[in-house]
Amino acid sequence: MSEIRTVGILTSGGDAPGMNAAIRAVTRASIARGYKVMGIRKGYQGLIDGDMFEMGARDVSDIVQRGGTMLYTARSKKFTTEEGILLAKKNCDEAGIDSLVCIGGDGTFRGALDISKHGVKCICIPGTIDNDIACTDYTIGFDTALNTALEMIDRIKDTEMSHSRCSVVEVMGRRAGHIAVNVGVATGAVEVITVERPYDLDEICKKMLEQKATGKSHFEIIVAEGVGNSEQISNYIQEHTGIDSRATILGHVQRGGSPTCTDRVIAARMGCYAVELLGQGISNRVIAVKGSRLVDYDIVEALGMKKNYDEHLHKLLGDLSL
Ligand code: F6P
Repeated sequence: MSEIRTVGILTSGGDAPGMNAAIRAVTRASIARGYKVMGIRKGYQGLIDGDMFEMGARDVSDIVQRGGTMLYTARSKKFTTEEGILLAKKNCDEAGIDSLVCIGGDGTFRGALDISKHGVKCICIPGTIDNDIACTDYTIGFDTALNTALEMIDRIKDTEMSHSRCSVVEVMGRRAGHIAVNVGVATGAVEVITVERPYDLDEICKKMLEQKATGKSHFEIIVAEGVGNSEQISNYIQEHTGIDSRATILGHVQRGGSPTCTDRVIAARMGCYAVELLGQGISNRVIAVKGSRLVDYDIVEALGMKKNYDEHLHKLLGDLSL
């Protein structure tokens, strides 16, 4: 088992609240084991550019409560080329980096897989607000994004209720509807429209009119980003129900803000687990939450998995929307 000397840390893809807590955990757990730690700025692009610095325990002070990522992030096109990967490997060798902890989503894991083929030991930590990583129940940032979206939608509901309107609210999630269905249930939406399920706008309009006939005065429809066209959906509803409707795209507000306790604790646990794995001579793994336990999967295996949409939650939303 070759010894770990220097652990590099990077965050890649979209930032997510709790990434800083993970960076802190990886840094401090590594230092506690006597490893040197290098922070790499702007993800794999920083590895290509040699944009890195040594991190001590104090460099990660006062970040556990902050959103974003102190290491910055990027989506590097160059790292998808052999030339870019070789440059990154050369910079790892020059800095003595034998191990990398890569925090991000699927794209980040693919990057880790590429560089692991050149002999750098990699551990991946799932960090994305979308919760669209198949091998894990939970990704860092998801809980904070849910709570942020919830707060924003509650505000929208105040004005929607006052005007007896319909609000069509588009939430993030790329191609996945996990944020949408969860906030839909949590805010009492009439319907949630996601990529994972077919939808029928006429049926939704009919349901709204039936509810209106029983005294319901205001309505909320959650649309997942992958479906898009929330403005058109809102216009269609207004035209076909006569109910005044407004579309709101929540956008990047969902990615910012102080991480929730859940995100911070999971980030801390995953960060320490990553360093433990490296210490045991285990690498090229993705860390995952299964129930209350942390487990790990081979990167290729993790990338090959498919995440199910929570049909049960979707049905429950419908059952409660009377
Ligand atoms: O993956 C996180 C995420 O916020 C998605 O929900 C969204 O589709 C995407 O990133 C937006 O990316 P960008 O910030 O590059 O526009």
